[in-house]
Amino acid sequence: MEPLIDLGRPTAARVYDVLLGGKDNFACDRAVSRRLTEIAPELPVWARENRRWLRRVVSWLAREHRIDQFLDLGAGLPTAENTHQIAQGINPAAKVVYVDIDPAVIAHGRALLVENEHTGFAAADFTRPHQVLSDEAVVGLDAERPIGLIEALVLQHVPDLDHAREIQAAYLDKLPSGSFVAISHACNAQVPDAFENSFPELRFRTPEEILSLFGDLEVLSPGLVRLSEWNPYGEAEIVDTGNFLYCAVARKP
Ligand SMILES: C[S@@+](CC[C@H](N)C(=O)[O-])C[C@H]1O[C@@H](n2cnc3c(N)ncnc32)[C@H](O)[C@@H]1O
Repeated sequence: MEPLIDLGRPTAARVYDVLLGGKDNFACDRAVSRRLTEIAPELPVWARENRRWLRRVVSWLAREHRIDQFLDLGAGLPTAENTHQIAQGINPAAKVVYVDIDPAVIAHGRALLVENEHTGFAAADFTRPHQVLSDEAVVGLDAERPIGLIEALVLQHVPDLDHAREIQAAYLDKLPSGSFVAISHACNAQVPDAFENSFPELRFRTPEEILSLFGDLEVLSPGLVRLSEWNPYGEAEIVDTGNFLYCAVARKP
């Protein structure tokens, strides 16, 4: 049975949708977004820059490394350019499987399946890697060839660092050789206390903690950097997100 969308309780996916200027949100989500942007007015810009980073990283993996299958954990509500559109814009046969737990995202995920034969959706909790990896949609990826694991602004939803590392270890262990892991993550270096207090279930981490989420994989150049500094094609007019958002990409040998 499809999980119910609760119109009265804000969710991370829908608040994020408000920040991105989307339409898949309700009054309670807009109220939270308003409160957060009063504390940190740059938030909508940061959310947009995260999506631009997603576009850069997926394009780079598809173009330079010929990655043609992606697993996007905590995919969020669809916006203008999603992982499958970016990847399939470069290779129309690229497969993308999205994972999310939010009922509104799940409803959109199901609709996607109807319109795109190379895109799958797993309605699953990404903190349960074994459940995710045994989902029918994920099993449809070729376990013998490299995968691009995308974790854009999701790992901060796991409050306990050791738990987050365990989850990562389970995914990294199962990834085929030659796979890539791309992470963007909220950093605690520049977060107002009032902001952090508004989202007690989120964890803003230090750069060292974020790096530890790659396990012992080699992080590729330019290393763990601000979103604006991860820019392989020299894209213009990127807004600097300061020390709020960090990202990196690693490769499994
Ligand atoms: C801030 S949004 C990021 C969306 C997208 N990855 C991006 O960077 O634009 C976080 C997403 O993670 C999803 N999420 C949070 N916890 C999750 C969990 N345990 N399992 C699956 N999805 C989860 C939320 O529903 C939401 O869609």
